[in-house]
Amino acid sequence: MYSSLGKPTNIFWQECPVGKADRQKLLNQKGCVVWITGLSGSGKSTLACTLGRELHNRGKLSYILDGDNLRHGLNKDLGFKAEDRTENIRRVGEVAKLFADAGLICMASLISPYRKDRDFCRSISSDASFIEVFMNMPLELCEERDPKGLYKLARAGKIKGFTGIDDPYEPPLNCEIEIRPENGVCPSPCTMAEQVVTYLEEKGFLQE
Ligand SMILES: Nc1ncnc2c1ncn2[C@@H]1O[C@H](COP(=O)(O)OP(=O)(O)OP(=O)(O)O)[C@@H](O)[C@H]1O
Ligand SMILES: [Mg+2]
Repeated sequence: MYSSLGKPTNIFWQECPVGKADRQKLLNQKGCVVWITGLSGSGKSTLACTLGRELHNRGKLSYILDGDNLRHGLNKDLGFKAEDRTENIRRVGEVAKLFADAGLICMASLISPYRKDRDFCRSISSDASFIEVFMNMPLELCEERDPKGLYKLARAGKIKGFTGIDDPYEPPLNCEIEIRPENGVCPSPCTMAEQVVTYLEEKGFLQE
């Protein structure tokens, strides 16, 4: 479906004169992928936006690849069945890798429910520069928030294959960062973003 002419042959790699290290020097930061995964309503976009603002304030160049937005363009030909979800994640993983190679701190905020799809994205990036952030929020909290009204529709059977209701969410086994409620209370967006900024700082991503 995605490649009607079969596997391409006679393809070579073109080396470019300016490399990732040069771009990182220009930007005084290290390119990386911050992959934010979790249930719908768990706060992925909220974290990405708050983190993006904080990084911008610190003079760091970042970009958000948000699942919903990408489905308006790059991935608008894809639905929500398992193979479409896999292709959706594959494409975003490849784009995120390019953005990281461009020297940016690239945040990808997508439900990305299947472990093997996220692990694929990790496998194509250099391991140290792929930072998986798990929004470990209980389904009840996400369902209570339900800002898009999707859980209500899924419970009523009007949306089929909704993650957490009648489609699985596979939590990460090896994430770098886990964001979860403390004593039953979800941390504020700023606190969530701070947790990621601290990680990026400690690992040296905020300088060249
Ligand atoms: N830390 C937080 N504290 C309070 N409310 C929050 C927090 N994070 C997110 N919210 C609220 O929860 C709702 C869902 O958040 P958000 O849209 O970021 O979720 P999402 O994971 O991106 O969902 P989707 O997968 O559907 O895009 C929003 O109304 C948002 O304002
Ligand atoms: Mg979102």
